[in-house]
Amino acid sequence: MAILKNINLINFRNFNNLNLSFDKKLNIFFGKNGCGKTNILEAISLIAKGRGIRNSSIFNLIKKNKDNFLIKNNLEIKYNNFNVEVSSEKKNDKFKKIIKINDDLSKDSLDFLYESLSYITFLPEMERLFQTSPSQRRNFLDRLIFSSRNNYNRLINRYKKILIERIKILQGNIIDYDWLDNVEKEICNLGMEIYKERLAQVGFLNSNFITLKSDHKFQFNVELKIKDDFYYNQFSFDEYLLNLKKSRIFDKKYGGTKIGPHKSDLIAIINDDFEASLLSTGQQKTLILMILLSQCNLLVNEKSINPILLFDEIGSHLDSNNRQLLLDMINKFKIQFFLTGTDKNLFSFVSTNAEFYNITNI
Ligand SMILES: Nc1ncnc2c1ncn2[C@@H]1O[C@H](COP(=O)(O)OP(=O)(O)O)[C@@H](O)[C@H]1O
Ligand SMILES: [Mg+2]
Repeated sequence: MAILKNINLINFRNFNNLNLSFDKKLNIFFGKNGCGKTNILEAISLIAKGRGIRNSSIFNLIKKNKDNFLIKNNLEIKYNNFNVEVSSEKKNDKFKKIIKINDDLSKDSLDFLYESLSYITFLPEMERLFQTSPSQRRNFLDRLIFSSRNNYNRLINRYKKILIERIKILQGNIIDYDWLDNVEKEICNLGMEIYKERLAQVGFLNSNFITLKSDHKFQFNVELKIKDDFYYNQFSFDEYLLNLKKSRIFDKKYGGTKIGPHKSDLIAIINDDFEASLLSTGQQKTLILMILLSQCNLLVNEKSINPILLFDEIGSHLDSNNRQLLLDMINKFKIQFFLTGTDKNLFSFVSTNAEFYNITNI
């Protein structure tokens, strides 16, 4: 599907004017800390919907003391070439991201672009995913769902908005109970859908770990689970609504909503025995790579989506297990990779032809 052929960064982060042409398979950026490797991955991730891998404000993307940034690139989608431009634009003191495909801003063109692009990312902080907060793990899971369903973020955003609306009603002076009932019904509808999507994603990954085992020597068995104090298999809409009603007084006082998918956690059980937080750092990286390998398998083999892989700082802490997982991913799927690391030597184990870019000397 989509292959990124080149990129031109103008006044983007630390770059004035950077031009790079890419290999359709494997691209490796290396160089000293702070030279701009993550910035390049970020620029690539901005070609899609949303705020990119760093979730940064538009303003911070613009090179200091410049007015706007521009990212020009050439994408090959189903053997056709498209010129895509991503830029910032200031309107009423606010910065907006603008995307044009072949100079066209229409919704149809953008929808076509969004449907054609999908990213799978590895960020160094994911090595500690199972030691950080549940919200990070929910985001991680939601990004996986988003990689195969590009309108999923709309569902999440609407859900977040309507939770805020309910609290505003509860904390207002006069409560309109009809309105509140309707808002709670919508919360339950959206919430049920989010639960369903997340369970389907987790279910897929679990069954895929088992299938992949025949080709890969995984170091351990993994079972992912959604941990949630309220939700269980037969949880019904009516039960959800009733619980939400019951928690009105509490929620009003606390200023948040006690139940729902925004309270769930993603946990990983290793060898039917213990939670992933007990794994070593290197093993936690293995776990993340197993999940990403499995996600590639879902996208490529079941959904006919060819994602672009953005793996930041993947070069460090790669023991033989993790190297093997990365090599399996590179060799098994016909997809485009962008990897970063501080040193070229970290990637000497990669035997496939790779294009190396020394970012320090740019
Ligand atoms: N808006 C900006 N304008 C100019 N420089 C920036 C801007 N944002 C970030 N930088 C610079 O980019 C560098 C960080 O780049 P980064 O891609 O994170 O490096 P690394 O190669 O370690 O991944 C820092 O030196 C930082 O000062
Ligand atoms: Mg970096």
